[in-house]
Amino acid sequence: MRRDPGEVRVLVTRMFPERGIDLIRDEGFGVSVWPHERPMTEEEFLKEAKRSTALFCTLSEKIDRAFLEECSHIDVISQFGVGYDNIDVLTAERLGIPVCNTPYVLSDATADVAFGLMINVSRKMFWLHKSIAGGEWNYFRPGSGLGIELRGKTLGVFGLGRIGTEMARRCTGAFGMKVIYHNRKRNKEAEDELGARYVTFEELLEESDVLTLHASLSNETEGIFDMKAFGRMKESAIFINTARGLMHNEEDLIRAIREGVIWGAGLDVTNPEPMDPGNPLLEMENVAVLPHIGSATVETRNRMSELAASGIINYYRGETIDNIVNPRSLDRGK
Ligand code: GLV
Repeated sequence: MRRDPGEVRVLVTRMFPERGIDLIRDEGFGVSVWPHERPMTEEEFLKEAKRSTALFCTLSEKIDRAFLEECSHIDVISQFGVGYDNIDVLTAERLGIPVCNTPYVLSDATADVAFGLMINVSRKMFWLHKSIAGGEWNYFRPGSGLGIELRGKTLGVFGLGRIGTEMARRCTGAFGMKVIYHNRKRNKEAEDELGARYVTFEELLEESDVLTLHASLSNETEGIFDMKAFGRMKESAIFINTARGLMHNEEDLIRAIREGVIWGAGLDVTNPEPMDPGNPLLEMENVAVLPHIGSATVETRNRMSELAASGIINYYRGETIDNIVNPRSLDRGK
């Protein structure tokens, strides 16, 4: 729907980098930024959304069927983030509401975190760092704190898309790792560029020395990494999750590492989030955990802000929206 700029009111649900918000203001649109560090409660979000025509939001907002049906007046939703599992995209499509996200711009930053976690786990760096603070660095111990090496090992990628490809580039470049992957669709470009080999899910579990998750959360991927899956992995395997915590069963992961079923894990996403400070994973030698910071660099967050803003701006200008995830919503019109 075309509106006069003065009629547009964009609800910005968090204090995202100003870059994108300024672009929206420059269009002459009304902008209302939630001015607190904490996310809105569901009630607050609903109340604010009812007074808005567009949402500039993120994972902390639950945009489910009930919400969308109550807010079917919303013209466009733009998510600050690549994943959008907090949004019922099919209902949005049925209601003719385009949903945009921020792909491409965060692939490098997120792959850097996956790569960093892998090295940190293989050399127990987080744990050794903590041990100094605990006063445990006294003398040289030739047989303790030993890690495992990554050179020539096999990287298994679950979900070889943009971020998975960046992770694979880092691992082949730095350590000459071989790449295997499991996807819904074959990725021929990555096969040609990186010599990546497509394998079944079972082969991925059995052959990976490092198994890294880059798929999106869906009914098929939720909870897929459970005890049964860990049980098929190598005892020396490192499990890396920078995608969504709901893809792994955390109780099973704790047991798998504690019982030596796998070597260790690096997590930027946990299940649930935030992780409880008493979680046993935080006390384990071969584990490194981060608080969901995949895209958290100045450059990336600025680019995400601009891209999320462009979805809203292009919608109201009637221009092509490159970052739309449900293009059929446009056929339904408003
Ligand atoms: C972060 O988790 C994202 O989906 O961008």
